[in-house]
Amino acid sequence: MSLSDSPPLSPELFDFPPGRLWLAHCKDGPMPRSALAGMQEILQQELRPWEMNWERDFLGTCQALRDAGAQLLDADVSDISITQCTTTGLEAIAFGMPWQPGDEVLIPRDEFPSNRLPWMALSARGVVCREVTLWDGQEALPPRVPTVAVDPEQRLMDAIGPRTRIVAVSWIRYQDGIRLDVQRLGQACRERGVHLVVDGIQGAGTTLASLAGVSAFASGGHKGLLGPQGQGLLWTSPELRALLMPSGTWLAAPSAFSQSGVQEAPLVPWATDGRRLEPGSPSIVNCRALAASLTMLLGAGIGRIEDHVRALQQQLLDALKDDPFWQTDAARVRCLVDHRRTGPTLCFHYDDEQAQAVTRLLALGEREGITASTRDGFLRIAFHGWHDAADVRRTAAWMARI
Ligand SMILES: Cc1ncc(COP(=O)(O)O)c(C=O)c1O
Repeated sequence: MSLSDSPPLSPELFDFPPGRLWLAHCKDGPMPRSALAGMQEILQQELRPWEMNWERDFLGTCQALRDAGAQLLDADVSDISITQCTTTGLEAIAFGMPWQPGDEVLIPRDEFPSNRLPWMALSARGVVCREVTLWDGQEALPPRVPTVAVDPEQRLMDAIGPRTRIVAVSWIRYQDGIRLDVQRLGQACRERGVHLVVDGIQGAGTTLASLAGVSAFASGGHKGLLGPQGQGLLWTSPELRALLMPSGTWLAAPSAFSQSGVQEAPLVPWATDGRRLEPGSPSIVNCRALAASLTMLLGAGIGRIEDHVRALQQQLLDALKDDPFWQTDAARVRCLVDHRRTGPTLCFHYDDEQAQAVTRLLALGEREGITASTRDGFLRIAFHGWHDAADVRRTAAWMARI
């Protein structure tokens, strides 16, 4: 795969000062300037509400975000809900399901708390949340590092039991970067009458999603989607959504509300579309910003961004193949990349004895304007659509100085 001359996203769309190399959208993505401009427009209207148009600026802003979310996921817009973040999307499902005591949720071991705590909280309702070990040695101390030989989907399928109602997974894991084949897992779940719920935040915006077999996909907007903190999206299948208790208020029962002040009494039906899971007034400032970020990403093409990121990753792995410190793990990571077991983030493992050197490397990077991040013994290098070959060379040269 060759690198195109110009990246799918121009760096000029962002506010990068000269020399700033941000390799950490897996932690927090930079918003484009267009998102700030959108926010400013809404803030201006908040300052002068007499200039705000209800249909255009409030309902229209929400709908524009739902529309962009549907395009991103190649989904029907009626299945999109506006949420605050990944966690609130997952909570709408966890807290909305008609559980029976003894029902079970399966999650992988070592999930990010967003996809762990909402399910754990269900113990108060008699629901068991079981953590599944995805490969031999994942639970060991120190844990065994995943290789291309792992088969996490099979481990999860094998763990499904008669009381399992939901399997909830990260599409791409935040610490080791392993990508799950949610289509394969989703199909197996469907065959067993189980819903697959996906925390998609580590891949959304950089990786083409397929929802076949999936029942729900939740993502905050502040990583690869390049939106502001505190704005997310949820996609639910109509079948799952019909089971869920409506979790919203007046946007979730939209015909109950009228601008004339006359509210329908006593009971009006909840919306059956994604608004069913939306709360009252959203932050339209954030909605406008995330919609602008999505518009930019969709204009560039998620498939193009994905290919570009993979080409950058290959280039970095080439550069590290003879590096005395990184070469062994770079070979492991290359196999994962070649087998599509990764998303936008390359996660290089280091052991306890190497941890101080990695800490010094991060500090050196910060002094020179390079930001990467670490989690659980992995150095995470996250490329996106604006990075180019020169960024990769700089990343490799910096990593070699460990
Ligand atoms: C896998 C995963 N899920 C969720 C989140 C964030 O959750 P939220 O959008 O609820 O803040 C992160 C952040 O690091 C993450 O890595």
